[in-house]
Amino acid sequence: MTDLLIDTADRVMTITFNRVDKKNSFTTAMYADMADALTDARLEDNIRVVVFQGHETVFSAGNDIADFLKAPPLSPDVPVFRFLRSVANFPKPIVAAVCGPAVGIGTTLLFHCDLVYAGDNAAFSMPFVNLGLCPEAASSLLAPQRMGYGRAAEALLLGDPFMAEAAMEMGLISRIVPPAEANALAQRQAQRLAAKPPTSVLETKRLMKHSQASFVDQRMAEEGAIFGRMLGEPAAREAFGAFMAKRQPDFSNL
Ligand code: COA
Repeated sequence: MTDLLIDTADRVMTITFNRVDKKNSFTTAMYADMADALTDARLEDNIRVVVFQGHETVFSAGNDIADFLKAPPLSPDVPVFRFLRSVANFPKPIVAAVCGPAVGIGTTLLFHCDLVYAGDNAAFSMPFVNLGLCPEAASSLLAPQRMGYGRAAEALLLGDPFMAEAAMEMGLISRIVPPAEANALAQRQAQRLAAKPPTSVLETKRLMKHSQASFVDQRMAEEGAIFGRMLGEPAAREAFGAFMAKRQPDFSNL
């Protein structure tokens, strides 16, 4: 069974996270495949929309922690950063269907999606501080902008999760539906986008995003350098060791 299903039909490329036994956490190989798929989708005229979807019980538990320990992202060219730059600069519309946990990059990825449909079981979190890390995917810039500083501080400094209703109120998602309906709704909306005049869609997205694009790229690069350094520091080592050993982390000696 492959960890990603990538399928193109009717001018829509659908990337389905298919690693449910590990809560759809992302490995280096998955980031590389997703970055390559986005390059294909960008270049292929016949693809007009990309959809990200998970399972109705889980969107993604974020980075695969064991994989992170084996291959920490220490340079801007590693697959995770390549993937994030591809998503942030993707010129065509991106639709996402989110059910269950969306942790770390499972949430920050959504700041770069255009239409997000959530199951009523969706639970968003950006617990980077709890892992001895810092935000990624330009979420240190985009979360305060989208959520307001107060709510972003609870989400990013405390690592507090928030549910679909709160995400809707913040404008992070477009609609809440029963989990069994989220992927189908995302597909329907993607089909509607794919049927519209492509140049109008591309120009509209570009106009909505371009004033901020260079700030997003700059912030991602800044976060990435700090994130890579922090991965080797004691707090992250303790947090990851605790996760692997299924115990609570202890930061009292730091
Ligand atoms: N990396 C690697 N493995 C992960 C993972 C991750 N981010 N998240 C979950 N898994 C694995 C678990 O180790 C477990 O594996 P096992 O069956 O071999 O023991 C399996 O997926 C099921 O996870 P479990 O924690 O038992 O599921 P749950 O339903 O109780 O909780 C989550 C789901 C997503 C809330 C919880 O798994 C979680 O918090 N994961 C870590 C999220 C995280 O910190 N991500 C990093 C962000 S940078």
